[in-house]
Amino acid sequence: MSEQKRTMLVTSALPYANGSIHLGHLVEYIQTDIWVRFQKMRGHDCIYVCADDAHGTPIMLRAQQEGIEPEALIVRVAEEHQADFADFHIDFDNYHSTHSDENRQLSELIYRRNRDGGHIKTRTITQAYDPQKEMFLPDRFIKGECPRCGAADQYGDSCEVCGATYSPTELKNAVSAVSGAKPVEKESLHYFFELADFEAMLRTWTTAGHLQEEVSNKLNEWFADGLRAWDISRDDPYFGFEIPDAPGKFFYVWLDAPIGYLASFKQYCERTGTDFDAYWKTDSQAEVYHFIGKDIIYFHALFWPAMLTGADFRTPTAIFAHGFLTVNGQKMSKSRGTFIKARSYLDHLNPEYLRYYFAAKLGDGVDDLDLNLDDFTQRVNSDLVGKVVNIASRCAGFIMKKSNGRLSEHVSEAGLYQTFVNAGDEIAGFYEAREYGRASREIMALADVANQYIDEQKPWVLARQKGAEQQVQEICSVGLNLFRVLMTYLKPVLPAMAEQAGIFLNLKSMNWDDIAEPLRDHHIESFKPLMTRVEPASVEAMVVASKEHLEESGKAASAGGPLAEDPVAATIAFDDFIKLDLRVVRIAKAEAVPEADKLLKLTLDLGGETRNVFAGIKSAYAPEDLEGKLTVMVANLAPRKMRFGVSEGMVLAAGPGGKDLYILEPHAGAKPGMRVK
Ligand code: MSP
Ligand code: ZN
Repeated sequence: MSEQKRTMLVTSALPYANGSIHLGHLVEYIQTDIWVRFQKMRGHDCIYVCADDAHGTPIMLRAQQEGIEPEALIVRVAEEHQADFADFHIDFDNYHSTHSDENRQLSELIYRRNRDGGHIKTRTITQAYDPQKEMFLPDRFIKGECPRCGAADQYGDSCEVCGATYSPTELKNAVSAVSGAKPVEKESLHYFFELADFEAMLRTWTTAGHLQEEVSNKLNEWFADGLRAWDISRDDPYFGFEIPDAPGKFFYVWLDAPIGYLASFKQYCERTGTDFDAYWKTDSQAEVYHFIGKDIIYFHALFWPAMLTGADFRTPTAIFAHGFLTVNGQKMSKSRGTFIKARSYLDHLNPEYLRYYFAAKLGDGVDDLDLNLDDFTQRVNSDLVGKVVNIASRCAGFIMKKSNGRLSEHVSEAGLYQTFVNAGDEIAGFYEAREYGRASREIMALADVANQYIDEQKPWVLARQKGAEQQVQEICSVGLNLFRVLMTYLKPVLPAMAEQAGIFLNLKSMNWDDIAEPLRDHHIESFKPLMTRVEPASVEAMVVASKEHLEESGKAASAGGPLAEDPVAATIAFDDFIKLDLRVVRIAKAEAVPEADKLLKLTLDLGGETRNVFAGIKSAYAPEDLEGKLTVMVANLAPRKMRFGVSEGMVLAAGPGGKDLYILEPHAGAKPGMRVK
């Protein structure tokens, strides 16, 4: 452990100020926080900064929708975000906002230096413009019919039904999602950052050990596609920083967002008297790490190092990308109640359960990770409550009652204790390498050994024998010493529980090196349960509460366009319902549609009449499994022309989607053509 003291600056990506923190975000903040806490426990100088990402069109529009100024919105959201983070024990050394003086100054500086270096060019481009709202429309604020399959209500640049990608100008019957007006094309002068100027530097940098291997491979594909100039300006109205020499033009949010890392650190430096330049000058000895999700690699591994280089700042030591969170094997979904906000979780469950569960599942790669709620309950209960806390609760009572709260002077089992201490190097190596899953497996294996030791020694049997007091004290002292080592190893993951354990064991500090010597002839405090079991009912209640949230935001969504996802339909009148002509049909034929990833072409028998219908159920059924089955269709839906043919109705299936979609089981009495009432 005679490692040299390191100087490190660590960041997590800056969350957007237009939405709440959810469990997906927390993968990243928990991953980073564990790493930082680990570094601090090892005695390194490690500073963790973050900020809200406060600029951009969605934030501007959300504020308008709420009838407030964007400044008021971002202040409110900043408070909410920070309360969520604090309650999950995410321990930032500084939390700032990209809408700040520090960030304005640094953004201007980095822009000017790049401009003076010749890396900024201007060019006139044509873009969709909302004539009613008098603003240019980002892709996701335009909706229309997919140019390939004709599906209605598709946003921006890709179709959710057939998977096509296109430019928003190709959408048919496009409308502005902001006002409903028909967009027009309009020219405007834009500012571009010449990424290609940095190609040589980036090719070297991206293969020099700053990135995970899978990430640098991905970058090679991007290099092969060619580095295109990056559009860094947006026209008024825009919530952001005006470009110094270009009135009416604003920095695109992604230009000043990563500079927000510097801005937050700058604020930290001013508050604490730390030397900013020592970290950011080109020959700095400090280490700089960015933790990010895999969706924002392009910005961090290409634009960011290029911008920094162009402005004469150092580049990051490494960028650590992680994968995306799924819940119960699927994308988080509001209608399933698995789009869980940080606050909804906190209303029902202990944050350290989630910290542990994520840690147990995290590795150093970009693979997605799944929160399976049954596995979550079971894993936390068996590992933390059943194994770790159990060691302390089995030993504490005897020490309190039989030995006046004192651990024995002599530590028997020195070899066993040493095994636990020796494991520390490997566990530290796992933390350092972000292999938290491996670290937790190793720690749980040690917990099993500690429990086995107590099982074998049976202090509860000896406690009933006369003259065995000292033996009981020694066994339980070994148990508690092993518990102390385990809690030290778990402290980056479970800071609050470790703190409670530290109070119980009466420890002055709980750093990595402290465990070298066991506690001898040491007074402890009375034991209070350190963690209770995860109650399945609480997990269920959280899911139910997350579904309820949707109904509220669902209404907002139908009024407000693309700001909220996954809207739920409003109630319909009975008169609307009886307009539906629902019929039992037999699937006479089912074929794949080669041009559409999700669609099957079904030939339906309505008892004499046949219809062709395209149905998005390919993820759940192979065509041959469907033939001969009965299902229900909406028979009076207006025919819709799609690229590969006309769809003459709609087939009904139940379920959340993906593989779980169910059509009716055949029933002897149900005949094709029957009405469904
Ligand atoms: N504002 C940008 C980041 C700017 S950094 C200079 C942004 N914000 S975000 O709120 O959308 O996401 C913040 C971080 O959370 C990103 O690293 C993102 O990858 C991560 N995640 C958001 N949803 C996630 C999951 N469902 N799963 C795992 N990480 C996710 O991007
Ligand atoms: Zn389509």
